[in-house]
Amino acid sequence: MRARGPLALVIAAMLLLSGCSSDDKDARRRRAAGPAPSVESYARVASAAAGARLFTRCSACHSVGQGAPDLGGPNLHGVIGAEIGQNRPRFAYTAALQKVGGRWTRARMDAWLANPQRFAPGTAMAFAGLADPLDRADVIAYLETQR
Ligand code: HEM
Repeated sequence: MRARGPLALVIAAMLLLSGCSSDDKDARRRRAAGPAPSVESYARVASAAAGARLFTRCSACHSVGQGAPDLGGPNLHGVIGAEIGQNRPRFAYTAALQKVGGRWTRARMDAWLANPQRFAPGTAMAFAGLADPLDRADVIAYLETQR
């Protein structure tokens, strides 16, 4: 009978902790990003670990490990900061993407991941995009660790 007290406390603590769902964490991160968050304020609260989980949506077409082959899309190792549509010399990028020009900054990657067809009309990336800016920031934070 007496042993039940501490055990009940442990169970209560576990229940409380499990209440801290990833939604709660995301809600806390959104609040920390501020009332009208920019790409940079999202970057300050971004999680590369969450980005790695989200990257499973990309990995059917993209590898990211150094030296890994291109798949249906180019390997994304070192893509942040690289020239748009130039990072993988052997990959057959479309002219639609290559003519955008410039380098992959966070702002450009955010616009691309929000809506690839709007960013580069005619691109071959058959992906609708990531609607949630926090998801985009997490994927960008993950890609920043892959270089
Ligand atoms: C959130 C998930 C994804 C991310 C983060 C992502 C990211 C990127 C980036 C950064 C590029 C340009 C790379 C460069 O300039 O070197 C690219 C190109 C491309 N991606 Fe994705 N991608 C995703 C999902 C997908 C999916 C699901 C597919 C296949 C259905 C795909 C197919 C392609 C193709 C074919 C290109 C070349 C586009 C062109 O040359 O017009 N991607 N992707």
